Amino acid sequence: KVVAVIMVGGPTKGTRFRPLSFNTPKPLFPLAGQPMVHHPISACKRIANLAQIFLIGFYEEREFALYVSSISNELKVPVRYLKEDKPHGSAGGLYYFRDLIMEDSPSHIFLLNCDVCCNFPLPEMLEAHKKYGGIGTLLVIKVSAESANEFGELVADPNTKELLHYTEKPETFVSDLINCGVYIFTPEILDAISNVSSHREDRANLRRVSSFEALQLATRSLPKDFVRLDQDILSPLAGKKKFYTYETMDFWEQIKTPGMSLKCSGLYLAQFRHTTPHLLASGDGTRSAKVVGDVYIHPSAKVHPTAKIGPNVSISANVRVAAGARLINCIILDDVEIKENAVVLHAIVGWKSSLGKWSRVQGQGDYNAKLGTTILGESVGVEDEVVVINSIVLPHKTLNVSVQEEIIL
Ligand code: GDD
Repeated sequence: KVVAVIMVGGPTKGTRFRPLSFNTPKPLFPLAGQPMVHHPISACKRIANLAQIFLIGFYEEREFALYVSSISNELKVPVRYLKEDKPHGSAGGLYYFRDLIMEDSPSHIFLLNCDVCCNFPLPEMLEAHKKYGGIGTLLVIKVSAESANEFGELVADPNTKELLHYTEKPETFVSDLINCGVYIFTPEILDAISNVSSHREDRANLRRVSSFEALQLATRSLPKDFVRLDQDILSPLAGKKKFYTYETMDFWEQIKTPGMSLKCSGLYLAQFRHTTPHLLASGDGTRSAKVVGDVYIHPSAKVHPTAKIGPNVSISANVRVAAGARLINCIILDDVEIKENAVVLHAIVGWKSSLGKWSRVQGQGDYNAKLGTTILGESVGVEDEVVVINSIVLPHKTLNVSVQEEIIL
């Protein structure tokens, strides 16, 4: 048997995702019309003998309750949310819930970060992992040398694929091969995590002799049950024939900002073309809008036949789009109203917002620039003919004059 664990983090981790994380946990933010965490969960469907899926985080349980029960029914595999009382780090969380995770005596444990976007080649990783015979195999990808320092950089043996060296977000360049945050382990990983904790304890006891060192320790050291997979496990155990790498040639992105969520929404829509084309709007039939490229429209949304939608547009529940509206490269969240001839381009429009007639909400289309994607928080009103360009508008604001390159607090 195999189990999968998805690390979803908690409310303090989502700060770069503001204002979209104010009232929805980041893992539930919709990409291509499905919660972010839904994409790794669906990928688990391809794993043979999957016994359970666990989501580990420190969000309140009730925030995930509805989603977890509906996805369990859909997949016919139990999906459980396990709440940490405090953050234990990406490896500490796994250890904290080891009894539940080992309940079905799995031979392998998948561990996935929830904030990455890729095609999750899980069966392929399992296959490779069995061949390598280590305690873990990590998904890796080549990125540009300039962007590598945002991730864990690593060196792998080109022939055996063994992980030889690992440095988390190094200041000086190590390698353009990076950690994708998708792993497969044998249960021995739990012993490796437990070793980190007990060594920390020993060190703490040893150092109690010097008060200077005790002070240093208090400011620098971590609680013994806080264990990071990257710094505390991969770095020290690299080059010891314990970890191996599986390189993906397919797409991979990290989702830390609203701009990246728009990009990843498009990547998942494109993937739907191959995996679940019935989820994409087709635009045929006389009552439906004109659809261009990959578009998701929730069945409860009402889009006027003269509106033109796409490419890369995702429209959530109960949205109303009036005649002549034009939507390109955007995410429209639940209960938004878009009035006649409004234009939305390179933007995310928050829950219950309203865009007036002939209004325009537009970003420049640079996913990495701070104001490259225009973001409207929840319940923002944009009045008729008002233009909002390269801006972020916090919840509950009403704009009656046009703005450009501004953060409206
Ligand atoms: N449950 C729980 N508890 N989840 C956590 C905790 C915790 O205490 N800390 C982090 N996470 C989750 C985050 O929500 C995220 O999904 C994942 O674990 C990794 O988060 P971080 O440890 O903050 O690392 P990162 O995202 O900056 O970088 C990691 O992922 C990159 C790939 O996206 C590193 O492993 C990098 O090396 C890697 O390139």
